Amino acid sequence: MILDDIIRFRRSHFPREFSGESVPDSLIHRMLENARWAPSHKLTMPWRFRVFAGEEKNALCAAMEQYYLQFTPAEKFDQKKLDKIRTYPVKVSHIISIGMHPGGAVPEWEELAATAMAVQNMWLTLTEEPNAAGYWTSGNGTGSDFMKQKTGLLADDKQLGFFLLGMVAQKRTHAERPHL
Ligand SMILES: Cc1cc2nc3c(=O)[nH]c(=O)nc-3n(C[C@H](O)[C@H](O)[C@H](O)COP(=O)(O)O)c2cc1C
Repeated sequence: MILDDIIRFRRSHFPREFSGESVPDSLIHRMLENARWAPSHKLTMPWRFRVFAGEEKNALCAAMEQYYLQFTPAEKFDQKKLDKIRTYPVKVSHIISIGMHPGGAVPEWEELAATAMAVQNMWLTLTEEPNAAGYWTSGNGTGSDFMKQKTGLLADDKQLGFFLLGMVAQKRTHAERPHL
């Protein structure tokens, strides 16, 4: 695949589309290796990824459910959303927690930018895979102290969400982007 297509065919796929089959660990390793090659000012490599699979993944899904039950204001509670979270243990194969460690050597926005570029490298690694898919969610307790603790981050680190991964029958390639 040429680079233009790798960029343009990268898609978000959601747990409702996942079959429940496992994404090969070798692919997870490739994603993490490609993440490592993202640029960072002063080579701080501020991203802090943690991969959850198997029982650890199920425990993190349970924590997402617990977060929803504990921290959703009554007026915002949505049973459908809770039901969706409850499908994660069966549907989702791996979860990569996206963290960032601000080391202080460069401004924090640069560390955020570098972390997002590392996530993009992981995401682009999936483009050519016919069935392995995922997306970056900024829900499910993203940014909370609760999730910082569950994902093993330090007090000053930022919890920036989760990359949810699974297998899908058929990946989409088409999308629209307006010209700005
Ligand atoms: C930082 C970030 C956070 C995101 N958070 C969510 C999310 O919480 N829920 C969601 O449905 N999609 C989320 N997305 C995915 C976007 O909705 C998706 O990338 C966008 O709709 C474009 O679709 P595409 O990735 O298939 O091109 C997020 C994307 C980014 C970059």
